[in-house]
Amino acid sequence: MSRQPKHLAVAGATGAVGVEILKCLEQRDFPVSELTLLASARSAGKTVSFRGKEVVIKELTPDSFAGVDIALFSAGGGISKAFAPHAVAAGAVVVDNSSAFRMDESVPLVVPEINPEDAQTHPGIIANPNCTTIVTLMALNPLHRAFGGVRSVIASSYQAVSGSGAQGIVELEGQVNAIAKGEPLPERKVYSRQIAFNVIPQVDVFLENGYTKEEMKMHHEGRKILHAPDLKASVTCVRVPVYRSHSVAVTAVFNEKPTVEAARAAIAAAPGVHVIDDPAADIPLYPTPLDSTDGDDCLVGRLREDLVLENALTFWVVGDQVRKGAALNAVQIAELL
Ligand SMILES: NC(=O)c1ccc[n+]([C@@H]2O[C@H](COP(=O)([O-])OP(=O)(O)OC[C@H]3O[C@@H](n4cnc5c(N)ncnc54)[C@H](OP(=O)(O)O)[C@@H]3O)[C@@H](O)[C@H]2O)c1
Repeated sequence: MSRQPKHLAVAGATGAVGVEILKCLEQRDFPVSELTLLASARSAGKTVSFRGKEVVIKELTPDSFAGVDIALFSAGGGISKAFAPHAVAAGAVVVDNSSAFRMDESVPLVVPEINPEDAQTHPGIIANPNCTTIVTLMALNPLHRAFGGVRSVIASSYQAVSGSGAQGIVELEGQVNAIAKGEPLPERKVYSRQIAFNVIPQVDVFLENGYTKEEMKMHHEGRKILHAPDLKASVTCVRVPVYRSHSVAVTAVFNEKPTVEAARAAIAAAPGVHVIDDPAADIPLYPTPLDSTDGDDCLVGRLREDLVLENALTFWVVGDQVRKGAALNAVQIAELL
């Protein structure tokens, strides 16, 4: 990476992902010459600490990007669509965490451990993939390469409430506290059902085919990232009362017959992903969402040959979706630039 310091802007700097982006920039010693922090008018004037200095948050406007080299967007798709073109026009490269541009043919969709070369050609915008897709592909990509290509995926996700932004955590916490005190539940603002002590088999809106928009992301984005145009994915996304880190139970069918031993070796050799898998241990070993929380790496366990489908493996993968699923991945893309 060029260590030439950059003028960075973070749009959505007060959100779950924005706060984590600042943490990643600090921890990775990203060379920053100037930092512009942007959010809504509600946050303008507040300060945030970065490398020991207080930085004042400004309201995001079309004129926010003068002199900016790289603009990291994490304020939702509508904001990205409205303001990313202004950032590009001002000469910045946008790394966008929303779904606004992911399926735009000219916009690369990048996981730096998987397809870093795709970031080399871009129209001023590079998209960060969906968080559940990133966590799944971090485990799937080494297997895709080891076993002649992945043909299909059947997966169920267990998605943390922080995936809904800072307000998802507030809603879970409020409900847990009310239940513990025997009080009525506070008014729901994020989820259609109670999330405390419950699971909700809906993440995002339903589409005509009966899948949700979130579920179809793995199908469409997986094809684009892996350069596997025939890949099919059937996914069920479920919101669970976990603060942070998404988990995914995956069955993947490959062109060549996989073995568990070769799968473990392939994952062990890949960057950013580790195997934690010993069912024979006194306390059987496998990763849980708490194990990946605040960590950079995705963790894989429960690897086994699938009993139903031929040439298939079934496994479990967890990853911190605010971090590797969003903030860290975006900062890694900025490092590629
Ligand atoms: N959370 C995750 O795990 C995750 C993972 C992958 C991708 N993403 C994507 O990342 C983006 C941000 O998600 P998040 O979870 O960080 O959401 P969040 O916690 O709700 O934060 C939203 C951010 O956007 C800002 N914002 C809202 N309206 C705005 C406006 N009109 N003008 C300027 N800024 C505005 C908010 O500023 P104020 O504080 O001033 O309102 C806040 O900084 C979304 O596109 C999401 O899909 C999230």
